Amino acid sequence: MKMSSALEQAFNAQVTLEMQASIVYRQLAIELDNMDLPGMASWLREQAEEEVVHANKFIDHMLDRDNHPRIGAIAAPTVDVETVHDAFTAAYQHEQKVSEAIRTLYRTAEQEGDLDSRPLLDWFLTEQIEEEATVSTILSHLEIIKDDGPGLLRLDNELGQRPTQSA
Ligand code: FEO
Repeated sequence: MKMSSALEQAFNAQVTLEMQASIVYRQLAIELDNMDLPGMASWLREQAEEEVVHANKFIDHMLDRDNHPRIGAIAAPTVDVETVHDAFTAAYQHEQKVSEAIRTLYRTAEQEGDLDSRPLLDWFLTEQIEEEATVSTILSHLEIIKDDGPGLLRLDNELGQRPTQSA
C-alpha cells in the first residue's frame, strides 16, 4: 500500500540524511588518510558505503510501495578534525543525530497509521543501537590509548581488518 504524502516526505528526508552521513564519513576517511592511518581511513570509508546501503533500503521500500524517492540537497561536510579522537567524536555525534531522525520517522509512521513500514523501521532502530555502540567503543579505546603511538597503530591495524562490502 502506498504511504501517505506526509510519510513520503519524511522518508525522503531520511534518504537525504543517510546520503549526508555517507559524505560526512567519506570526508572523515580523507582526514584519517591525511594522518597516515590507513586502517581507520578504510573503516570510515566502509562506513560511508554502508550509509549508501541504508539510503537504498529506504529508497527500495518506497519504490516497492509506488512512492517517489527523491534525494534532497546534500550540504558540504563541515568536519573540524585535528585529532583521531575528533574524527570519531564527529562520527558519534552524527550517529546520534541519525538515531533521533529514525525515532522521529517512526513516530510519523505511527501517526500516519502506517503498519507496512514498521519492519523496516524496527530494523533501523536496532541498527542505530549497534552503530552508536560500535563508534562509542572505538572512542573508549581512543581514550585509553591517549597519546600512546603503538596503541594507536594497533587500533589502526584492528579497524583496517573490517570486511568491505565488495569483499
Ligand atoms: Fe545510517 Fe550510521 O546511520
